[in-house]
Amino acid sequence: MPPPILELSRVTKHFGGLTAVNQVDLVLYRGEILGLIGPNGAGKTTLFNMIAGFHKPSKGRILFKGMDITGMKPHKICKLGIARTFQITKPLKKLTTLENVMVGALPKEKTVPGARERALNILKLMGLDHRASLPAGTLTPGEKKRLEMARALATDPSLLLLDEVMAGLTPTETQDMLELLRKIEAQGISMVVVEHNVKGVIRIAHRMVALNYGQKIAEGPPHEVITHPEVIKAYMGEEGPCFE
Ligand SMILES: Nc1ncnc2c1ncn2[C@@H]1O[C@H](COP(=O)(O)OP(=O)(O)OP(=O)(O)O)[C@@H](O)[C@H]1O
Ligand SMILES: [Mg+2]
Repeated sequence: MPPPILELSRVTKHFGGLTAVNQVDLVLYRGEILGLIGPNGAGKTTLFNMIAGFHKPSKGRILFKGMDITGMKPHKICKLGIARTFQITKPLKKLTTLENVMVGALPKEKTVPGARERALNILKLMGLDHRASLPAGTLTPGEKKRLEMARALATDPSLLLLDEVMAGLTPTETQDMLELLRKIEAQGISMVVVEHNVKGVIRIAHRMVALNYGQKIAEGPPHEVITHPEVIKAYMGEEGPCFE
């Protein structure tokens, strides 16, 4: 087993009287793709927000490469090598696709030509190079998801947190996205993949964790997790593509 890259112990987040994440323990090993599933409101995005420093945990510890990053500011965590995408895509609409990615690449590359080259390479990887000079606001929803990933990759992460990058994609786009994730995996980048598209995520995840009402209800190999009675119960009454 490779060493862990990310370790969460008893991570908890309260919003007033609501416990959005409740005592979650989680380990991600280097090079691993962990699928994180759970119905709406389960606490998946809140967990990402705590790992990436957007929310301070109410309780618990988060270690990245053995270093305690609990409560650190987002830019510091990003510098250490954690990048995330947003569930609701947030491109800088007036900047071009290329410029959007350059913004992510600049802190790492220091020079504009260096950032430009790095950004172009990433756009190529993401199949967005033909959109490089268009304003990001004009991209299709599927392209915006890939731009989000490109911006995250531009920061040169060793851990990538992906929030619903397959949501709303056509079957062909989902297939393309899975291939992209495999390319990212081949670069040695570890990933946590939050998905409602369970059919998609089980094809890529090495291991899965399911949350419900902020608590971990199942963990293990993908097929074990999606057939776990607690997981099936949690998804009952939910619409969507989950188990069809
Ligand atoms: N900033 C906030 N302030 C108050 N409550 C919040 C905040 N962010 C999230 N919550 C609440 O915390 C719970 C978990 O929300 P979260 O967004 O983490 O769920 P999720 O699993 O990502 O859901 P979805 O699948 O719909 O994206 C929900 O009840 C949500 O309303
Ligand atoms: Mg969410």
